[in-house]
Amino acid sequence: MDNHPPSRHSFAVLTLSCALMACSSQSARRSTQTSTEGTQVVAAAMPKANGSAYEAADRVHLPKVEPEDHPSLHNVFALSKNIISGSEPHGEEAFAILKAKGIRTILSVDGKVPNAEMAARYGMRYVHVPIQYKGMNEDEVTKISKTFRELPGPFYVHCFHGKHRGPAAAALGRLVVDGLGREQAIAEMRQWCGTSKSYEGLYETIARTEVPDATITEALDFEFPAAHPLDGVPGSMVPIVRANDHLKDLAKRDFETDPAHPDVDALHEAGKIASLFEQASKLDSSDYGDDFRQWMQDAVRHSGELRDELQKMKDGAGDVEAAKRAFSGVAASCKACHGVYRN
Ligand code: HEC
Repeated sequence: MDNHPPSRHSFAVLTLSCALMACSSQSARRSTQTSTEGTQVVAAAMPKANGSAYEAADRVHLPKVEPEDHPSLHNVFALSKNIISGSEPHGEEAFAILKAKGIRTILSVDGKVPNAEMAARYGMRYVHVPIQYKGMNEDEVTKISKTFRELPGPFYVHCFHGKHRGPAAAALGRLVVDGLGREQAIAEMRQWCGTSKSYEGLYETIARTEVPDATITEALDFEFPAAHPLDGVPGSMVPIVRANDHLKDLAKRDFETDPAHPDVDALHEAGKIASLFEQASKLDSSDYGDDFRQWMQDAVRHSGELRDELQKMKDGAGDVEAAKRAFSGVAASCKACHGVYRN
């Protein structure tokens, strides 16, 4: 079965041999085969184990690798000559770096609509397939696999920070493009990219989801759109996380402006996040429970308190500890709500 196109038959054989051998990394390595079409046969799903997929990501021990970091591009890991994982590219400098690395296709799995125009100016094509922290569904797995099979590499794969969703999508690319074993792919997520234990769903996808073969991805009607805007609550989170990130950095400096980022002002960011939560609280939440609405109200209240306290500080009265308490309240509502509705 070394040299024929991927088919249901070869998939079944691989599944069987993998099951018999408990999917040792040796058998995973042996399943690294190229078909005559140049697409890899994807390694069979790992069997359901007692432990989590996150735990299984520690079975293969990888050498320690530090990410490449630039002011405009973070957490950059070249997983192979075909696939690089990292953060959202911030501005021209980032796209110039990616171009210099030979990247031809950029896949974003973040909620934010990417800057396809800027990428195009550097000769790179963007594909946008937003995914969730709880893992990829079949539709997303199929679209992402099709992207890896049919668009030209090398690929740069990113979410926002390049730690969780992006590395999972890059790992799917490792299975599809590089024919990597599943254990190795989840080990790279955990040991290199630092994908959190909290996102077991992402690990599960890479460890156990059936990846459709090339006949299925070829048949899928998907035009590789560069923009897939999210609406509703997931869409509302896209600007919230960006304001929140600025505030996190500023909180460490008692909300004093960082001379390295003079354009980022704590009061302005707090005003932004407070009004974003107010807008989010008015969205249709009928898909969610009462606890969701409570946490959303908490987020509205704490972000309003933060804004008011920072305003007082600007006027010479406020208290930095009170501002920090309000910000911790915001963080607690993100965490509580995501624990139930996102992760
Ligand atoms: C009341 C509930 C709630 C609160 C509070 C909340 N979120 Fe969310 N968040 C969600 C839901 C629901 C989703 C979508 C999950 C999904 O579709 O799987 C989401 C998605 C996200 C996403 C993913 C967006 C994307 O790119 O697809 C990010 C990032 C995020 N939230 C950040 C934050 C941050 C940061 C905070 C706090 C400052 C926060 N959220 C507060 C409910 C909440």
